[in-house]
Amino acid sequence: MVIQRVGVVGCGLMGSGIAEVCARAGYQVTVREVNPELLEHGLGRIEGSLRRAVERGKLDEVAARRAREAVRGTVALRDLASSDLIIEAVVEQMPEKQAVFRELDGLCPPHAIFASNTSSLSITEMASATRRPDRVVGLHFFNPAPVMPLVELVRGLVTADDTVDTAKAFAASVGKTVVLAKDYPGFIVNLLLIPYLLDAVRALELGVAAKEDIDRAITLGLSHPMGPLTLLDFVGLDTTYLIAEAMYAEFKDARYAAPPLLKKMVLAGYLGRKSGRGFYDYRS
Ligand code: 3HC
Repeated sequence: MVIQRVGVVGCGLMGSGIAEVCARAGYQVTVREVNPELLEHGLGRIEGSLRRAVERGKLDEVAARRAREAVRGTVALRDLASSDLIIEAVVEQMPEKQAVFRELDGLCPPHAIFASNTSSLSITEMASATRRPDRVVGLHFFNPAPVMPLVELVRGLVTADDTVDTAKAFAASVGKTVVLAKDYPGFIVNLLLIPYLLDAVRALELGVAAKEDIDRAITLGLSHPMGPLTLLDFVGLDTTYLIAEAMYAEFKDARYAAPPLLKKMVLAGYLGRKSGRGFYDYRS
């Protein structure tokens, strides 16, 4: 099956990045957000990223214009009905993701593939909300999607071979390297990343070191591009908290239990870069 039209549900940090990646690869993309304000904000993020890519010599003006023209924003899910592939990137909560897929199932023709950008939730469980569980798959992009070269392709228990093949060819066509994972909480990257990030918060909470030194130790000692607390601010403390909660619910393993400090920061609205404040202050 050949993908021509792509739908993206959610134009937040990940949805806007995914829409941009698809548009830059030549797909016609319709991206849906729940209200005009959020849609405008998300489309603005795509515009900013395209501009940055041109400034850095990653993209020429003509390609940027083509990408811009390939993205159409909407607040109506039915506008995604003609898509061959729909990638959902809504909040990391099962009821929301199932509701999106359930509604799309009634709108889209049977050939359409539903993909989830979930970080940790079960593809099989999402698929159970549809009458096409064999056409549901995980396509997990990494933030910032236009820059990070990886996509985790997640096969649910009943995902069909041709769905996996089509999704794999699609991810390669947008320039990503694909790794295949089974439907297991956290897949590959978050299975390893989440305990590491939570341990960094625990180290801070225990007073092992100052936040700057925790980050400096990891960037200079391990050559990571960002220290864990900076990365938490980058990914979003709320998103990380939801992923940790979901993984803890599955494993009942203390490694995935969110430390009190993380919960308090989320409740206080310290969500990281997106709210202007997390472990660090981005307001100036
Ligand atoms: N389009 C295309 N390329 C772009 C771009 C854009 N909009 N913006 C930047 N780039 C390119 C730059 O040209 C540069 O490429 P080059 O090295 O070949 O010149 C490269 O991207 C890096 O950009 P910058 O120089 O602007 O920025 P930095 O060097 O400071 O790197 C970073 C920024 C890429 C975010 C880097 O700090 C990094 O890799 N951080 C770690 C990010 C990470 O770990 N992400 C995964 C998070 S986990 C996740 O998403 C999973 C979820 O489920 C939790």
